[in-house]
Amino acid sequence: MSATIISGKEISAKLRGKIKEETHALIQSGITPGLAVILVGSDPASTIYVNNKEKACAECGFYSEKHVLPADTTQDELLHLIERLNNDPKIHGILCQLPLPEHISEEAVIRTIRPEKDVDAFHPVNVGKIMVGDYDFLPCTPAGVMAMLDECGIDPRGKHCVVVGRSNIVGKPMSMLLLHRHGTVTICHSRTKDLADVCRSADILVAAVGKAGFITADMVKEGAAVIDVGINRTPEGKVVGDVCTAAVAEKASYITPVPGGVGVMTITMLMQNTLKAAKMQLK
Ligand code: GUN
Repeated sequence: MSATIISGKEISAKLRGKIKEETHALIQSGITPGLAVILVGSDPASTIYVNNKEKACAECGFYSEKHVLPADTTQDELLHLIERLNNDPKIHGILCQLPLPEHISEEAVIRTIRPEKDVDAFHPVNVGKIMVGDYDFLPCTPAGVMAMLDECGIDPRGKHCVVVGRSNIVGKPMSMLLLHRHGTVTICHSRTKDLADVCRSADILVAAVGKAGFITADMVKEGAAVIDVGINRTPEGKVVGDVCTAAVAEKASYITPVPGGVGVMTITMLMQNTLKAAKMQLK
């Protein structure tokens, strides 16, 4: 078997077309969706992500603000900026790029962003809403994965969905979304026994580990759908996922590429959440 490549770029182009149309209509009624993106420090990968988010805002017709703060910014200074953005009517969504420097508590930052403006869906209020299946925002990366599955007609219902990785950003909410869609979900992590065996039993395998080439072909069942959430840089500077794509594509039915897969979908879902935040705040 040779896998069908699920193009995040193509699906994003389609979804962004709809977002642009809706934004145009919203602007006619006097509201321009506004997103504030905060970056503390100058991590090269984070800088690229933040710039891509800003570009996507321009593409969709949103107002955007980029706040780049020095790495020695204090927690109080950052929380003050968030408070100011919380009270700024031009801003409907606030995103603080993670990871943060060690002297700043991610938890404090996440809790300070008002839940109505929390377009990452990281605030405990939004996490709780996702848990019970009654949410305003879905976290961007898992939402992007679900949109890719839907676009390809891959229904998680009754399937064994294996999520490798248990982060708050991806693994945990990803598992919950698959469960809401009636998947039988297994979450694996660094202490999972017989990880390869568990992966081999997956109909849908989501890799969110952060290690280049972690998922090898022998860990994949013939005909599985393989979703690669990893964005890793090799010593040569090449961007690769968590999956050995070429070898796994020989066995899988579907596979997502890196780059051009989940990463671009994450940003598209951020645009969708910002548009939703603007509409919610209009009410
Ligand atoms: N760092 C890596 N992924 C993300 C994300 O989705 N949101 C934020 N805020 N930071 C990240």
